[in-house]
Amino acid sequence: MRRKLAAGNWKMNGDKVALAELDTLANTPEATEIDILVCPPATLIDAAVTRLGTAPVAVGAQDCHAETTGAYTGDLSAAMLADVGATAVILGHSERRALHHETSEAIREKARAAQAQGLMAIICLGESEFQREATNTLDIIGAQLSLSVPDGSTGLNLVVAYEPVWAIGTGRVPHPDQIGEVHDFIRARLERRFGAGVGRSVRLLYGGSVKPANAADIFAVSNVDGALVGGASLTAGDFRPIISALAQA
Ligand code: PGA
Repeated sequence: MRRKLAAGNWKMNGDKVALAELDTLANTPEATEIDILVCPPATLIDAAVTRLGTAPVAVGAQDCHAETTGAYTGDLSAAMLADVGATAVILGHSERRALHHETSEAIREKARAAQAQGLMAIICLGESEFQREATNTLDIIGAQLSLSVPDGSTGLNLVVAYEPVWAIGTGRVPHPDQIGEVHDFIRARLERRFGAGVGRSVRLLYGGSVKPANAADIFAVSNVDGALVGGASLTAGDFRPIISALAQA
């Protein structure tokens, strides 16, 4: 059985005051039933880990460099993130693929580095609206998946997030059948590449405009093991009902 995962991606939002949201999450009763992860901006990771203490809420990062140390001004390595207590890192988010020109090959190297440091790599995949209209969504997802995911991945060090680019921050959500089609496809591909045992153990998240109002419908879809939540993860008031919906799914 895959343990469900509710992951929040704060993106470039949040300051020290916003860490108070974590106090409410720390007391979420469902935190013992499902995994909860918050990925604040890197400036807040250390403080978030300290603030959460022994609470059952994990802290992750939003990107890392493929190298461990070196002359890479402005970058952070997976080792540095692990050093301050992060246990996961989001990689290949569509905003980084688009705005930082990250290729799937580069994302795979980052994921390899993250896994080598004991971090769980949350690798994001997703088609643009143009690509969906051209009906080659599964081709796009298949190519991103095989190139971005490193060999040796397991259910412990890999999570795959399907995030259609056109659904991120737009309030538009695919039909459950569309989500199910992609998630079933990703599951089948992972089983083929890594074998049924590993392939079935990797958690698949849906991301893109997940809100309290639509969460239950999304979590009812086959092979949806949780969500990667952007805007609605910024306040515990929005994130908690999504966590509850996941625990009940
Ligand atoms: P959103 O973002 O929930 O604000 O649409 C999701 C994401 O980009 O991970």
